[in-house]
Amino acid sequence: MLIPKDLTKKASVRLKQVKTESDFFKIRSEFLGKKSVIQKSFQALRKLPQSEKIKTAKKLNLIQSDLSLIFNNFANELRSTVNFQPIDISLPAFQEYGSAHPISKTIDKILAYFEHLNYQTFFGNEIETDWYNFGALNFPDDHPARQMHDTFYIDSKSKKGYLLRTHTSNTQIHSMLDQSAPIYMLSAGRVYRCDSDTTHLPMFTQIEGLAVDKDISFVDLKGIIIDFLQYFFDRKMDVRFRPSYFPFTEPSAEVDIKFGTSGWLEVLGCGMVHPNVLSTCQINPKLYSGFAFGLGVERLAMLYYGVKDIREFYASNLDFLNQV
Ligand code: PHE
Repeated sequence: MLIPKDLTKKASVRLKQVKTESDFFKIRSEFLGKKSVIQKSFQALRKLPQSEKIKTAKKLNLIQSDLSLIFNNFANELRSTVNFQPIDISLPAFQEYGSAHPISKTIDKILAYFEHLNYQTFFGNEIETDWYNFGALNFPDDHPARQMHDTFYIDSKSKKGYLLRTHTSNTQIHSMLDQSAPIYMLSAGRVYRCDSDTTHLPMFTQIEGLAVDKDISFVDLKGIIIDFLQYFFDRKMDVRFRPSYFPFTEPSAEVDIKFGTSGWLEVLGCGMVHPNVLSTCQINPKLYSGFAFGLGVERLAMLYYGVKDIREFYASNLDFLNQV
């Protein structure tokens, strides 16, 4: 009987062509499977006289164990590479890693309140034109109110006149231009300003709300804000509307809540949509009125979780994140 020759060499050559896990298994079965040369040789042993049987079997066993060694080593090497992870069927089917970030949880909680009142949620652009961020919101080019919204301006060939939005109020304009009144919309997202200390970040999150309909008055705005704050903190709150100024609302107010020993703390800006803004968006200010508000999500989350330094939210410190 012929002892198969050079099987180990051939196997090594073939293994060089392996690209995927299934290539590997195919070649292994070619060399060690039921129909492989080595298995056929074992079957042929039966026909040999007793004296040769033992000698040949020993040789075949040696070849087979050399082959197994080559294939096992190759598999171990492959397993250590990224694309060839064996499936561990003993692992539980589903594993939950991590948890929602406190800012995401706060956004969800706020959206839930307004979605319940049938407000529609929109997502706006973080890179915006000067017009949507300022112009359409009644900020003339050289108005000093722009000073408080210092941000990054993008001045490349393709993106001249773009900036990182300084507030989510740009979404008011998009939603009023995209649909006709009545409008009840909400929009959460990141905004950018030149600000950085324990209560301000250069990147933070706002939620914008806008309602445009017939007969909307300041009473509606006041009612919904007070009710929302009590829902959010789950108790009766002392709420103060302090007269303020925004070019896109008239009258305008900033809303403070009284919080423990810290006194009055500002949580949002709001007001009645300025008639100029309605007209710019082709909504007749004689027929329709509206209110808008912009909430600082980190500010509310700080008060809710008792966080003293806003920067904690973005320090990726698991000890902190696991607590809130
Ligand atoms: N956009 C304002 C700010 O960021 C807040 C605001 C929103 C005020 C809507 C009035 C109406 O300060």
